[in-house]
Amino acid sequence: MKKRVQRKVEPMIEVIKVTKTYPHDITALHEISLTVNKGEMCFLIGRSGAGKTTLLKLLCNMEQATRGLIEVAGQEMNLLRGRKLSQLRQQMGVAYQDFKLLPERTAAENIAISMEVSYKKPQVIRDRVCSLLDQLGLADKYDTLTGELSHGEQQRVTLARAIANSPSIILGDEPTGNLDAASTERVMRLLSNCNKAGATILIATHDETIFREGSHRVLEIADGRLEGIAAFPTTL
Ligand SMILES: Nc1ncnc2c1ncn2[C@@H]1O[C@H](COP(=O)(O)OP(=O)(O)OP(=O)(O)O)[C@@H](O)[C@H]1O
Ligand SMILES: [Mg+2]
Repeated sequence: MKKRVQRKVEPMIEVIKVTKTYPHDITALHEISLTVNKGEMCFLIGRSGAGKTTLLKLLCNMEQATRGLIEVAGQEMNLLRGRKLSQLRQQMGVAYQDFKLLPERTAAENIAISMEVSYKKPQVIRDRVCSLLDQLGLADKYDTLTGELSHGEQQRVTLARAIANSPSIILGDEPTGNLDAASTERVMRLLSNCNKAGATILIATHDETIFREGSHRVLEIADGRLEGIAAFPTTL
């Protein structure tokens, strides 16, 4: 009889009793605990102001937790500094809610940034950038300054930049927020392919269409508290 190979379940992201308080005593997250396993794709939903972006910022070290423990790829975020921190950040692709593109650089230059940091060859970078722009319906925007792109086009460039270097962890903050149905499908197909290739993915969203049909976990945050798995999400 053939032996079944079982994939080991290992946590990639562990958040244990994390609280985040911003200045002026604004508590955005209250004792949140969650685990995202290696190779999992899951969705984070909740009303505007619920704390989704704050959680993603803690995971990529843009903000520090006030209390609690965050481990990413087995490393405790609060203790990471210098080279170890930048090595971990290189394994992560983040598509920010407010994009953070360089407006005076072209779409291709913005997307290439993460690959240049890891010293990929120019031809490899060019091929990857062309392929991503093509898959996102932006083949004709290679040389366009991102400051001259529409919101939806900038959003797709942001996604392309996040995944260009094939990161093992992808954090997407409303990656389809400004997109029509066809572009949303392109973005989700790309993310799904990254997931099939092994990436662990966490996506904050208000867009029910991107998880309704799938079997991925949906986590719901309400007023900074994790409400657990939302079988029938209520707070989009
Ligand atoms: N830098 C900051 N300083 C003070 N308060 C902040 C800061 N960033 C966020 N907040 C507050 O923290 C709470 C959570 O904000 P967050 O951006 O995480 O929400 P969100 O779920 O991402 O909302 P949206 O769906 O609108 O993007 C809100 O009350 C917000 O006003
Ligand atoms: Mg947000």
